[in-house]
Amino acid sequence: MSINLKGKAAVVTGGARGIGKAIVETLSEAGCDIVVADLMKKEAEATAEEIKKKYKNKALPLDVDVSKYDSVEKCVKSIIDSFGKIDILVNNAGVTRDTLMLRMTPEDWDFVINVNLKGTFNFTKVVSSYMMKAKYGRIVNIASIIGMIGNVGQANYSASKGGIIALTKTTAKEFAVRNITCNAVAPGFIETEMTQKLPEKVREEYLKLIPMRKMGTPDDVANVTLFLVSDLANYISGQTIVVDGGMVM
Ligand SMILES: NC(=O)c1ccc[n+]([C@@H]2O[C@H](COP(=O)([O-])OP(=O)(O)OC[C@H]3O[C@@H](n4cnc5c(N)ncnc54)[C@H](O)[C@@H]3O)[C@@H](O)[C@H]2O)c1
Repeated sequence: MSINLKGKAAVVTGGARGIGKAIVETLSEAGCDIVVADLMKKEAEATAEEIKKKYKNKALPLDVDVSKYDSVEKCVKSIIDSFGKIDILVNNAGVTRDTLMLRMTPEDWDFVINVNLKGTFNFTKVVSSYMMKAKYGRIVNIASIIGMIGNVGQANYSASKGGIIALTKTTAKEFAVRNITCNAVAPGFIETEMTQKLPEKVREEYLKLIPMRKMGTPDDVANVTLFLVSDLANYISGQTIVVDGGMVM
């Protein structure tokens, strides 16, 4: 059975590049209308333009700072004004600010928690009121295996991603009766601009820990996301699917 999302409207946060862009592309290929919601206005516009040309769907770029509740409310209102509904929400926007805990400033902590965890809460809260009324919704939160196993130098990031996994379960429980599912995808080591900034030595050490001995691609994460928002996953909620070449098991 092939997945058909024709008639559905989706929003992907942090959709301008990397994993978010791959999700935007994969959902568009399945027929979805899409909102590319990102802090980087120009990149979001370029991605939406590229998608529209390629898939002939509606692709709307919107600038948003997920960490700011007012900004999220404004963004969601624009989506409702344009598409009339939101069927699918992918909370993908994420940042890192790595350093050992002894050197981590409260600002480093707040920055990462506010984008990754509070951003996921902000979007879920605002979008879910529309999904509740529609009695339909599919929410996917992009977590990380670091939220399960921790990592040296990533106190803020690991806590934000562990928080997302817990938030996913609460969201799933609170909205289940309204036919809204919420699941998380926990990627391992994926080739994007976020990981390109890691020193070569660190990358080599990571690769030794991956049984498949290779990094994942943004498409590996996008394909699982597509499954979770499709009818094939109608009876799955509150789960975290790990996409990491066998690193965590
Ligand atoms: N790359 C990996 O190996 C990996 C592994 C596990 C999890 N993840 C998670 O996947 C997601 C995407 O990561 P990526 O590697 O594609 O990163 P990336 O840095 O390439 O892309 C992140 C996107 O989020 C946007 N963004 C950042 N802050 C924002 C904000 N406040 N409001 C709106 N948009 C904002 C950026 O502009 C960018 O387009 C993140 O949540 C990340 O934590 C990535």
